[in-house]
Amino acid sequence: MQILGIDVGGSGIKGAPVDIKTGELLEERIRIKTPKQGEPEPIAEVARQIAQSFNWKGPIGIGFPAPIKGGVTMMAANVSEKWVGMNADALFSMITGCECTLINDADAAGLAEMTFGAGRGQPGTVIMITLGTGIGTAIFHRGQLLPNTEFGHLEIDGLDAEYRSSALARERDKLSWKKYAKRFNKYLKTMENLFWPDLFIVGGGISKDSQKFLPLLTIETPVVPAQLLNGAGIVGAALGALRK
Ligand code: BGC
Repeated sequence: MQILGIDVGGSGIKGAPVDIKTGELLEERIRIKTPKQGEPEPIAEVARQIAQSFNWKGPIGIGFPAPIKGGVTMMAANVSEKWVGMNADALFSMITGCECTLINDADAAGLAEMTFGAGRGQPGTVIMITLGTGIGTAIFHRGQLLPNTEFGHLEIDGLDAEYRSSALARERDKLSWKKYAKRFNKYLKTMENLFWPDLFIVGGGISKDSQKFLPLLTIETPVVPAQLLNGAGIVGAALGALRK
């Protein structure tokens, strides 16, 4: 079965048709800049353009940076406030003309990694952490997802964790990899003390540079990069459409 996966990020919106049996992208992905202000209609319009460029008529799964309950976007940290309380499944479906199902972006990436990547066959507690404009989290136990966890907003030293430790924070504060690893280590240490997981998987665009900072971490729990790298968001978004 094929589903179009779309990953809505703070800087880009990416999409490609996915073979959900194998987790493969069936065509080269398309990336379009996220419209400034991150408002609903302009973002849905980009999804329509992506669907149109693949001449897509089937189901679409969309990873979105907010907790999603029954198709409704519940919160907005890095997108417009206008999303709060909106039936986003209905909006995307109306604008694209295809049946759209939203899922939190980190939950999507986590599902992809648990099914096809670094978390495959992991029996214990696995925490997927995506580093991008924000920090996304997805928690799995025995392969089951606890959806919509928002531990990127954990308060550490009086600040939202993602403000200090996201990939954007590294660029904004012009941190060396060593300094960034120190901040990220503190975040992981806090998560480790709260959840005692068996594995952390680190994803997001920064995962392609994982060799520059993961070896500098000093926590007990094993930390591995996402195997699907940035593709996890698209593949997982497609898998999310099956969970409706
Ligand atoms: C949002 C999460 C999202 C994460 C990664 C956070 O700011 O609240 O829902 O998963 O960013 O995009």
